Amino acid sequence: MECHVSAGSLPGVAADWLIVGVGQSDEFDESLRTLDEALDGQMTRLREAGDLTGKLAETLTLPDVAAITAKRLLLVGLGPLAKVDRGTLHKAFATAAMAASKQSERSVACLVPSIPDDRLDDTTAAHELAAALTVGCVGPGLYQKEPKRFPFTSVTFVVPQEDRLAELDAAVAAGAIVGDAINLVRELVNRPAADVYPETFAQRAAQLAREAGIECDVLDETRLTQERMGSLLAVSAGSVRPPRVVVFRYQGAGEGQPVTALVGKGVTFDSGGLSLKPTASMSTMKADMAGAATVLGVMTAAARLKLPVNILGAVGLVENMVSGSSYKLGDVLTARNGVTIEVLNTDAEGRLVLADVLSYVADQNVDRMIDLATLTGACVVALGEDVTGAFTNDQSWCDEVLAAAQRAGEPMWQLPMHDFFNEQLESDVADVKNVGKRWGGASIAAKFLERFVGEGSWVHLDIAGPAFAESGTAHRDSGGTGAMVRTLVELLAPSSRP
Ligand code: BES
Ligand code: MN
Ligand code: ZN
Repeated sequence: MECHVSAGSLPGVAADWLIVGVGQSDEFDESLRTLDEALDGQMTRLREAGDLTGKLAETLTLPDVAAITAKRLLLVGLGPLAKVDRGTLHKAFATAAMAASKQSERSVACLVPSIPDDRLDDTTAAHELAAALTVGCVGPGLYQKEPKRFPFTSVTFVVPQEDRLAELDAAVAAGAIVGDAINLVRELVNRPAADVYPETFAQRAAQLAREAGIECDVLDETRLTQERMGSLLAVSAGSVRPPRVVVFRYQGAGEGQPVTALVGKGVTFDSGGLSLKPTASMSTMKADMAGAATVLGVMTAAARLKLPVNILGAVGLVENMVSGSSYKLGDVLTARNGVTIEVLNTDAEGRLVLADVLSYVADQNVDRMIDLATLTGACVVALGEDVTGAFTNDQSWCDEVLAAAQRAGEPMWQLPMHDFFNEQLESDVADVKNVGKRWGGASIAAKFLERFVGEGSWVHLDIAGPAFAESGTAHRDSGGTGAMVRTLVELLAPSSRP
């Protein structure tokens, strides 16, 4: 998708679609007034008739508008302008892109809305629009013969003023890179486990890393055995697909500068193992590698954006399957850091995979760590499908992550890490059990992980809810969502204003 910024008025812009955001019960600003005048007051009449409400993400398409050069006008609600943030902008423009990309004409122009009171500067708004349009025009129909969506070929971002075009050009280019990263995560999550398994994920990762200029090391079973990753290897034992751990290093800052580590759970299919899941719970478990896909997406985005930061990425890739060689209930595993784990539920496998990858990363001289995992159904019960759970051993690091999520407009909420949760993990035969009791399961899982992260600052993000949407809506396709890509890019490279 080619993006460029142009200054000018809306009626004269040539495109298949002209997408324009309209605030709810606010006066039209100058750009909208000019458009309304060109349309002989049609927008005012639509608003008075209640057909143009400006409610967040409500769309209204006007085909064949004689007074404008564009073929169609798509008006999308922004909600009350006093409440607009990056999250609402993203939702509105992703919705518009989803609607427009259902037709096969692919050139788009859109107005970068002016948000009053400095809530959002125009570069940040332009960045978010580019990300949202990139995401919204790509559907989940990867395996359909007849395409149902037609990704845009070119997008012109119209701004009212002539100055700072170069700055805005850079902002939309960056936004499109973030959108591409989200689409990569969505694609990897949406592909079934027959296509994406540890070896193929690792191959794809290595290829993308090469293209982006990221150092990438693929650890196979021999290396994993040498590393004594007994916990990860046990989860993988029941599958015919051998496990992999992929380690990425992106050096965007100087040698001695701080290193942020990103760790991802990459269970390419979670059957539950011998603690087998019922069909309804298993049906979406190709998505259990979303954490790993997110790490890969963020790494490629950081490199393409040339962010001045150092990142170490690591993903643990396994398939959790049932066979004669599966790990069993009662097994005692020895993790890489020497901690012994009594397995009492083979479906609590994500923490066993992460245990070894976290301990590996903790030994690599990193300054702070974030892991991303579709770890517990309990987190979805606690926070719902759209909210990421955050857990930490260092409140100030967690505050930074929460603030980045807030700025990026992605919902996140911190959950507790009381030490008494540990009592539930006490085992009679080993150092720790892999499950506690039912209640508080998201915190118990996080307390388990904490034993493998060493002394450094660490935040665990449970994305079991937001990583995957079982059904689509007008503003979001079903399937992988790419949740947390925007937050992590924002964390690594803060935008100028909140
Ligand atoms: N991958 C699942 C968690 C999950 C559930 C992700 C729903 C997305 C949607 C994880 O491996 C799992 O099975 N967790 C168990 C833990 C339990 C056995 C302690 C769970 O949540 O039921
Ligand atoms: Mn599981
Ligand atoms: Zn799992």
